[in-house]
Amino acid sequence: MSDAYILGIESSCDETAASVVRSGEKMVSNVVFSQIATHQPYGGVVPELASREHLRAIVPLVRKALEDAHQTYQSVDAIAVTQGPGLAGALLVGISYAKALAFALEKPLIAVNHLEGHIHAVLLEERQKGNRELNFPVLALVVSGGHTHLYLAREQPKGWMYENIGHTRDDAAGEAFDKVAKLLALGYPGGPIIDKLSVHGNPAAVRFPISQLKHPDRNDKGRPRAGQQHDFSYSGIKTAVLRYVETHSMREAIETRRRKLAEMPQPKFEDYLALCEQETRDLVASFQRAIVEDLVEKTLAAARTTEAATLFVTGGVAANAELRATFEQRAAEEGRPVYFPSRPLSTDNAAMIAAAAYPKFLAKDFAPMDFSAEAGMALR
Ligand code: KG4
Ligand code: ZN
Repeated sequence: MSDAYILGIESSCDETAASVVRSGEKMVSNVVFSQIATHQPYGGVVPELASREHLRAIVPLVRKALEDAHQTYQSVDAIAVTQGPGLAGALLVGISYAKALAFALEKPLIAVNHLEGHIHAVLLEERQKGNRELNFPVLALVVSGGHTHLYLAREQPKGWMYENIGHTRDDAAGEAFDKVAKLLALGYPGGPIIDKLSVHGNPAAVRFPISQLKHPDRNDKGRPRAGQQHDFSYSGIKTAVLRYVETHSMREAIETRRRKLAEMPQPKFEDYLALCEQETRDLVASFQRAIVEDLVEKTLAAARTTEAATLFVTGGVAANAELRATFEQRAAEEGRPVYFPSRPLSTDNAAMIAAAAYPKFLAKDFAPMDFSAEAGMALR
């Protein structure tokens, strides 16, 4: 079969992205427009603003992705777009544009689950490097601002199958990074800044108890569910950080930092570092250590109870340096290969959407023109 060029479009949260990927294994172009500057003053994503920014960015962004790939609207073989999960209004921008393109160009339209995209970011890059040695099934930890999910992923004749074997019962790991950063006046998003600040702190300074999962799953509405031993919970640690701030009288220092940062047009990492006294550096390092330990230990425990041959760690939080180093060390000790996407493909992008669409393209698993956004879409 000749090469297939798939144009991917992603707009589920606060990144507008377009990319062309050849046959699921070569990223020919990848353009991402981040809305961080828009949402930063609010300390989190504002859905209405996200939709407006996607609308503004999407047409020039797709044009740029095609130009960078030396492709045209007519030359691509299919249009792939994120159907969910994500913000409904944000998803709709990408979906409407993808539908319009597919209709006008008479090209197949492919709907992709965003979480499946994160998993395929790893496959895309490994194939691009020429790695044909991957063994299946894969145990994938998708860890981002909206998700902390464990999937067993299997390649089947008709495409990929995913079995969810664990998820967060409350906050996602990235959400905990973002909320703690907001509490400590460290800006938005919280992950990258806490990642860098932690290097300057003592991770053993504060002991945070790892979530014990004593409370029921808020998604289960009181009903027990099978396989809960692989679940996560990060709202407790966020509250523990808040309690630490209160009991150690850190409020004043936080407000001073908030004021000083607000006076700077574009604060750099050095500014944040200079405005963080040792107590804050130690606090974030200890917080990060607790989350990393929990993610690594629960994932490896899940791997031991399943027939997973390979581990994938993907999603925005997979960009975290300590998470990568700890996973690499512990997985190696257990003789399990672990793969991550490169940092640009860890956070939201459209190359992962175009890559995940390729098996669907081969299986002619196309979306009808009337499909809609699915904000709470599950991955199966
Ligand atoms: O995958 P992503 O771009 O969007 C979602 O699908 O949610 O992930 C964004 C999340 C944010 O919560 C952000 O704080 C976190 O990923 N993140 C990180 C790092 N870079 C981004 N968390 C920890 N360390 C990082 N270096
Ligand atoms: Zn994502």
